[in-house]
Amino acid sequence: MGDRPIGVFDSGVGGLSLLGELRSLLPNENFIYISDNAFAPYGALSPEDIRKRSQALTQWLIEQSSKLIVVACNTATTNAIESLRKTHPIPFVGIEPAIKPAALQTKTGVVGVLATKGTLSSGLFHETSTAYGQGVRILEKEGKHLVEMIENGMLQSEEMEQLLHSYTQPMIEQGVDHLVLGCTHYPFLTPILTRILPQQIKIVDCNGAVAKQVERVLNKKDLGCESQHLGNTTYFYTGDSQTMRQFVSPDDVNVLSIP
Ligand code: DGL
Repeated sequence: MGDRPIGVFDSGVGGLSLLGELRSLLPNENFIYISDNAFAPYGALSPEDIRKRSQALTQWLIEQSSKLIVVACNTATTNAIESLRKTHPIPFVGIEPAIKPAALQTKTGVVGVLATKGTLSSGLFHETSTAYGQGVRILEKEGKHLVEMIENGMLQSEEMEQLLHSYTQPMIEQGVDHLVLGCTHYPFLTPILTRILPQQIKIVDCNGAVAKQVERVLNKKDLGCESQHLGNTTYFYTGDSQTMRQFVSPDDVNVLSIP
């Protein structure tokens, strides 16, 4: 039972940043990862289409015997996790912008959030930022083009640095001391952000906290893998193989068709 895989999905390679945390915290677990890059970026889809894609990927992961599903995408979590939980009886763990820790730790009272349009316009994001952002100014910024550029192999480019500079400069001028990365693609930008942001600005992502939540749910539901051997990860993509092959060994990636 415990040997069944944990299904993980994102619109692209972003969820690999969370998968990395999951694999180091839970090394004996088996994982199936889907990059739904034929339909990326999710941030540009309607909430209804984000739900349809999330349902289709979940259905396939359940057919592969997944015991728990990690929605490794802020945009899919904030738009679709409620509907997934209503439809399927297995546990789901999602990821949302880490507003709570940033709001608790800010000294200036100004927190920046970089996320997709789909996340920033979702009801769940608004509920979270209203609940935890009391007394704190939250500056929301859509990370327009960032996901597409990462998916198109432009992570390390002059254009990327310029774009990040233009998105963060107004936040710096308004006194942010925490920048929340509200998209699982963005932790791959941390080295560039560290270089361009003033030292006092703390970059916050919640991949570590989400991995711990997965561990808690597995323990609570008695679903943890009992094997003492290192687990396997199988990778699938629905669109172009290029970017996945830059992030994981080309021998491990498989094409998947989910219309
Ligand atoms: N990694 C996804 C997220 O966390 C990116 C969404 C997109 O494809 O726009 O929001």
